[in-house]
Amino acid sequence: MYKEIIEGRTRLLVPEKGTFGRTVAGRIKRSPVFYNPRMKLNRDICCSVVRALKRDVVFLDLLSGSGAKGIRVAHETGQSVHLNDASEDAVALIEKNARLNGLDNVTVSNENANLLLQKRYGSFDFIDIDPFGTPVQFLDNSLMAVDKHGVLGITATDTAPLCGVYPAACFRKYGARPLRSEFCHEVGLRLLVGYAARTAAKYSYGIRCLLSHSTEHYFRVYLKVFKGKKKADASLEELGYVYYCRKCLEHEYGRGYLPELKSCGCDGRYEVAGPLWLGRIQDAVFCKGVVRMSWYLTDPGTERLLEMISEEIDIPFYYDIHRVCRVLRTSAIPTDEVIQALEDEGYRATRTHFSKTGIKTDAPAEVVRGVLLMTLSFLISHLAIMITTLQAVRRIHLPIL
Ligand SMILES: C[S@@+](CC[C@H](N)C(=O)[O-])C[C@H]1O[C@@H](n2cnc3c(N)ncnc32)[C@H](O)[C@@H]1O
Ligand SMILES: [Zn+2]
Repeated sequence: MYKEIIEGRTRLLVPEKGTFGRTVAGRIKRSPVFYNPRMKLNRDICCSVVRALKRDVVFLDLLSGSGAKGIRVAHETGQSVHLNDASEDAVALIEKNARLNGLDNVTVSNENANLLLQKRYGSFDFIDIDPFGTPVQFLDNSLMAVDKHGVLGITATDTAPLCGVYPAACFRKYGARPLRSEFCHEVGLRLLVGYAARTAAKYSYGIRCLLSHSTEHYFRVYLKVFKGKKKADASLEELGYVYYCRKCLEHEYGRGYLPELKSCGCDGRYEVAGPLWLGRIQDAVFCKGVVRMSWYLTDPGTERLLEMISEEIDIPFYYDIHRVCRVLRTSAIPTDEVIQALEDEGYRATRTHFSKTGIKTDAPAEVVRGVLLMTLSFLISHLAIMITTLQAVRRIHLPIL
């Protein structure tokens, strides 16, 4: 029923594929305990984040499943960890996994997550929330249970509502309007952080986003909380709206409680999304620390992602170069060429982990369009010179051939 694997530096018993069991709600599902190998990167980064905090923390793995994350944190960081799951099968497996690694720094409980949080207010420095779908139902109690300088690690796998596929579900859960667009993943992640900031403010907490990433089917954010009404108000000032024109792909954003009435310079209609977080979603210094702390992990993808995140300029949203090229009816231009051309014009520009063809820049849309056309004509003239040269070479060599 279970097989042994190694993840990071930790031995784990995880369900064999194809085994069956019951969920907390009593439904039949494929395996008795949840373990998703595709979330390894999430757990890798979480271990590195805990190591990068460089202080003793009591870590709560609120929704542990097989215990993969909490057991890894306990083993790979040496911190005290409490693991919890409502499923009895999960708790039995967590206990086996703790014994397998000879851990004496873990405790385990078999409780409803919200009840546990309510009983243990102020007991944890780091609370990890890794639910099926949305984390919203655990956020209020987590904010009350976390220590006043603690950290919340939040995963959301409900990317479809947050990315605007199901706007009604997004409004229902997050009280905000999403945006189906080429940068919908960043909008979705910022909606999640914005929701956390609004929830934290109710309990006089401000937040700072230490690190965040959008990977495959989920968003992950690490938020440091700060107690105090002023901190809460300062966080709320980072909330606002994004305005997007589908016709010319222009986007603007602005802070404020309410959206403004704006229209795009091309006479197109602006679509509005929010309220969302417009503050920083990465702390570059902290990210570098996380990269350093991930040295022992063997998966090069983890380091690559962290490096990329730490080098991204922290400007909300980005241009998808292929999308802009399509609007301009030109062929696609390599992303690195566009970045170079924007830098030559004196703007900042970097790739973004949100999209392979995305560019974050402080250049306005019309400059991006101008640079694309310029780069294209440069590439075409280069190509024309190459073709003429090749034809000339062929003419010279043909008689010999
Ligand atoms: C997505 S899994 C957790 C995965 C795990 N963090 C990992 O890295 O493998 C969610 C877990 O939450 C548990 N769960 C769901 N609702 C719960 C609740 N209200 N209280 C406690 N546990 C709950 C489920 O039994 C399941 O094991
Ligand atoms: Zn427009």
